[in-house]
Amino acid sequence: MKGLILSGGAGTRLRPITHTSAKQLVPIANKPILVYGIEAMVEAGITNIGIIISPETGDDIRAAVGDGSVFGAAITWIRQEEPLGLAHCVLIARDFLGDDDFVMYLGDNMLEQNLVGFVSEFESRRSAPELGSTGALVAQILLTQVDDPSSFGVAEVDAAGAVVKLVEKPENPPSDLALVGVYLFDKTIHDAVAAISPSARGELEITDAIQWLIDEGYEVAHDVLEGWWLDTGKKDPLLECNRLVLDTIERQIDGEVDEASVVEGRVRVGAGARIVNSTVRGPAVIGENTVIENSHVGAYSSISDDCVVSNSELDHSVILANSTISNVPRLVDSLIGSHVVVDSSSRVPAGIKLMLGDHSQIELEG
Ligand code: DAU
Repeated sequence: MKGLILSGGAGTRLRPITHTSAKQLVPIANKPILVYGIEAMVEAGITNIGIIISPETGDDIRAAVGDGSVFGAAITWIRQEEPLGLAHCVLIARDFLGDDDFVMYLGDNMLEQNLVGFVSEFESRRSAPELGSTGALVAQILLTQVDDPSSFGVAEVDAAGAVVKLVEKPENPPSDLALVGVYLFDKTIHDAVAAISPSARGELEITDAIQWLIDEGYEVAHDVLEGWWLDTGKKDPLLECNRLVLDTIERQIDGEVDEASVVEGRVRVGAGARIVNSTVRGPAVIGENTVIENSHVGAYSSISDDCVVSNSELDHSVILANSTISNVPRLVDSLIGSHVVVDSSSRVPAGIKLMLGDHSQIELEG
């Protein structure tokens, strides 16, 4: 079985964080979301992985993943010139995929559940078809109940448990069962993606391709997601996901902690990092070469590599690489991009001085 990870597309929902970088590289506990996807595949025994990249962010993704050997994977890069849809990705990956079964994984999705059971279930269902099945089993999807099905692909499952209908971001959802971004296909999907036409939003939709399979009399199995799921999206779910992952880390101090500092509980301090006259309360991660000076870093914070936090207090926040936070009395529930400077000064005229990119969001103390 092969793997296909979709990491092209244009990041719009996490603006301004993804104005300049790929949304699949947003870190959770200082590790890019995409890397969790690669690790989940390798854990399920899938090491031959194709990754779809776009001309805009492909180089950054390649730099972050390398040749895949550190994850135990062999990576084939597949460039998609324009984000023409999830099914278009399957179309352009045809040579890489050949006639093999494959797992398709959306590079901006993150799952608590691993892929081991999902993959082995597909294999055993295919070798021993379930009683009452009418057609050949050619695909398996993962579903979960959501409050806002119109933001997702939505599945309708009949009383017997068969997937009968799939629609992409419907105005009137037929159910509250959303498609999670992990799919299993055999080679029949190549006929489906070749047969469908672009949707109203101009994309070749994978939901339409799966609907084509159902209409042609093939069987599509489904599983219901166990545990949490993040579809990158917005700041608060991302902070929540960061919190859930930090809850699973172990203490590991590779950097320097001076005598005046206290590092409490499950904290990871990266190589070359320095904690000076500060408190860090776990669970938290401090990236490589980051300096924390005269500051308090509270639980559920992830500070990436090459940052400086000085004379500040922060809690429950994610800070991307190369950013500086100085003289900030209390920063909470925040997501800060890379190369950002947050400082407070007593210079006159007094007042809040901002230089914000498009689509920035600031919440000032009331
Ligand atoms: O997250 C689950 C949802 O993902 C499903 O419920 C939907 O059925 C499915 O269509 C998809 O919807 P999104 O609108 O969230 O997809 P998005 O455009 O965010 O793309 C998902 C991933 O695929 C992301 O990593 C970017 C990549 N991608 C996307 C497109 C459209 C590509 O590599 N190429 C593309 O052409």
